[in-house]
Amino acid sequence: MTVLDIHVLGSPLLRAETVAVTDFGDELQHLIDDMFQTMYAAEGIGLAAPQVGHTSRLAVLDVEKNPLVLINPEILSTEGSDKAEEGCLSIPDIFGDVERPKRVVVRALDRVGQPFEIDASGLLGRALQHEIDHLHGKLFIDYLSFMKRRAALSKWESLKEKYPLLLRKLMPADGQRASADDERSGRRARRVEEEVL
Ligand code: NI
Repeated sequence: MTVLDIHVLGSPLLRAETVAVTDFGDELQHLIDDMFQTMYAAEGIGLAAPQVGHTSRLAVLDVEKNPLVLINPEILSTEGSDKAEEGCLSIPDIFGDVERPKRVVVRALDRVGQPFEIDASGLLGRALQHEIDHLHGKLFIDYLSFMKRRAALSKWESLKEKYPLLLRKLMPADGQRASADDERSGRRARRVEEEVL
């Protein structure tokens, strides 16, 4: 398994529409495994294929130790509304409150092409919507108010210099280092880290 580079804000792939998956062979299986590996190395709870340079309609999630593969997902219905802070592995160190439906029913295929439905609210419901957005070129900053988006983009102008070619290179040990830092920096860091998708 390989830890892949993550495309950061500015990479055109993050704004591209994806292509439905039709081939569930070895290539797809390897990509899924690499995406899980990459998500864990980055200490995220969700990762979509465009974030690692692929146009497949595919995302992986792991909310509260429940690994989930989402292929060609569709939102069947939504209910309510809820606001919470989000972050994104493709926009490191930028966070913002996003209002989304509170509950969502999603239909998708699993890694071998079997259909399933999932009915989720809370963090999983939010993560599902954030990842499905990625598969249609949409990012959480798109939901921010004009002023908050402008502030986020201006902060990103200086942060993005850390990512030559708009690629975020992860070390397999990144996760461990982040955990140690996290313990030192307390509760807020932990809360935010859980919500990086
Ligand atoms: Ni994201």
